Amino acid sequence: MTAPTDFNDRMLSLGLARVAEQAAIATVDLIGRGDEKAADQAAVNAMREQLNLLDISGVVVIGEGERDEAPMLFIGEEVGTGNGPGVDIALDPLEGTTLTAKDMPNALTVIAMGPRGSMLHAPDVYMDKLAIGPGFAETVVTLDMTPKERVEALAKAKGCGPSDITVCVLERPRHEQMIAEIRATGAAIRLITDGDVAGVMHCAQPIQTGIDMYMGTGGAPEGVLAAAALKCMGGQIQGRLLFRNDDEKGRAAKAGITDLDKIYSRDEMVTQEVIFAATGVTAGSLLPAIKREVGFYTTETLLMRSKTGSVRRMTYRNPMQ
Ligand code: FBP
Repeated sequence: MTAPTDFNDRMLSLGLARVAEQAAIATVDLIGRGDEKAADQAAVNAMREQLNLLDISGVVVIGEGERDEAPMLFIGEEVGTGNGPGVDIALDPLEGTTLTAKDMPNALTVIAMGPRGSMLHAPDVYMDKLAIGPGFAETVVTLDMTPKERVEALAKAKGCGPSDITVCVLERPRHEQMIAEIRATGAAIRLITDGDVAGVMHCAQPIQTGIDMYMGTGGAPEGVLAAAALKCMGGQIQGRLLFRNDDEKGRAAKAGITDLDKIYSRDEMVTQEVIFAATGVTAGSLLPAIKREVGFYTTETLLMRSKTGSVRRMTYRNPMQ
């Protein structure tokens, strides 16, 4: 059967929510149990099983790694029944494996889907990221500015002082200099130990989360997932791939990337309309944790469509098997 080319995002979105929900539920007995690999594997298995129930001809473009590194949900893996539209899928079955193992905030299951060719095939390298919320001109802050210039420019655009700005940053030795520069402006920093997809998403809801800007380096695949989220929620993200050696440059070449210094805007990372789902695993400021009640698990999922800008919060009560 020839796969239809129309991407029925409205109909597929509930299926996507189910995929995120089941991946989260699969981790429930592994939250706070100190075994990040087991938690990740459980989420991967469940996500793959659920994806294969969907009537799509899907290809994983952002996944668990290259074919020879990941047994499941590897880049290029075909998923779905094959009876449906051709779609690209970006996923992170468990964003924040360590957060889950330690029961720390903001671990999520994350998946985005769009028509074929809709998402940057980012190799598994680092990306320098800069994100802000909605309502600002495109160039108000850029990756070419220093951290100080970014804070000052955003403060000016918001009509406040630098000390009214809070920046979210991954706590890593490589960010020490940047952290010192941000602090010297008077701005506050919310340090996170992992989970920069959630870190970037916080910028889209600054009033609820208290975060105005995200900056620093993290995984490039997570950068594309965060771009998909902001395309739905509103907000800007820019990313530049970073290569530490020839092997990483080779990964870019394999993904068809020739301009290694390019700064990608949100809409260059995600070029067409997409749908996005994330389910909370541990409690955070975006989503609550999975809850256990007698006989039931309850999850909360953020389900979003960029075409309409719709953001749904779905509570799912699932009988324990
Ligand atoms: P995992 O869930 O795969 O452990 O990734 C968590 C994460 O914190 C991402 O959110 C982030 O992009 C990346 O790791 C940062 O990488 P590193 O730990 O090498 O700084």
